[in-house]
Amino acid sequence: MAKLLYVKSSVFGDGGQSSQLAEQFIEGWKGKNAGGEVIVRDLSADVPPYLDGNVVGALFTPADQLNDDQKAIVAYADKLLAEVKEADEIVFTAPMYNFALPAQTKTYLDYLCRAGVTFKYTDTGAVGLLDNKPVYVITTRGGIYKDTPADTQTPFLKMIFGFVGLSDVRMIHAEGLNMGDEAKEAGIKAAADEIAALF
Ligand SMILES: Cc1cc2nc3c(=O)[nH]c(=O)nc-3n(C[C@H](O)[C@H](O)[C@H](O)COP(=O)(O)O)c2cc1C
Repeated sequence: MAKLLYVKSSVFGDGGQSSQLAEQFIEGWKGKNAGGEVIVRDLSADVPPYLDGNVVGALFTPADQLNDDQKAIVAYADKLLAEVKEADEIVFTAPMYNFALPAQTKTYLDYLCRAGVTFKYTDTGAVGLLDNKPVYVITTRGGIYKDTPADTQTPFLKMIFGFVGLSDVRMIHAEGLNMGDEAKEAGIKAAADEIAALF
């Protein structure tokens, strides 16, 4: 049975523009994958704890030396990773907040970068250890940044997903959402058309 992981980011929950476009994606995906399962990782409803010294300390401690608090942290990180591993495809929402990803979405990605687990360094550089699979990134932005240096999200997301082995990143942008009704409609339509063309 095919599995889709939906990484949900918007602080506006189901009302977020990225959530609505992701719902369209999921409907299309379900149409193509009858009986398929959608795993939802809602980062706004269930905010991952910030990657502080405790979290990093736990993730860097050998399994047989973990205390109970550290075991809980590692179990949480393992759960996030298991969702990625078991998925055949990922739809990842990336609203632009203050020229970057939402903090909870960045933190989620921090949990996926685990030395010796999702990447390793060799004489020739870093090697990602996750099996490659399509990652559909839906960005939503008040302004327009695509193909300009101000698009901080695209290079960062391609870099970090590629770092752990997920190099098949496909960007879908909904832009101009705060630039008046006409621009908003056009921005959403452009993304919705791209999604519709996938299924
Ligand atoms: C806290 C906050 C910060 C934002 N910062 C930016 C920004 O830096 N650049 C931009 O183009 N739009 C910005 N916006 C507009 C959002 O990108 C836009 O509302 C988009 O629809 C958010 O996606 P969402 O509806 O899925 O949450 C911001 C919105 C919020 C709520």
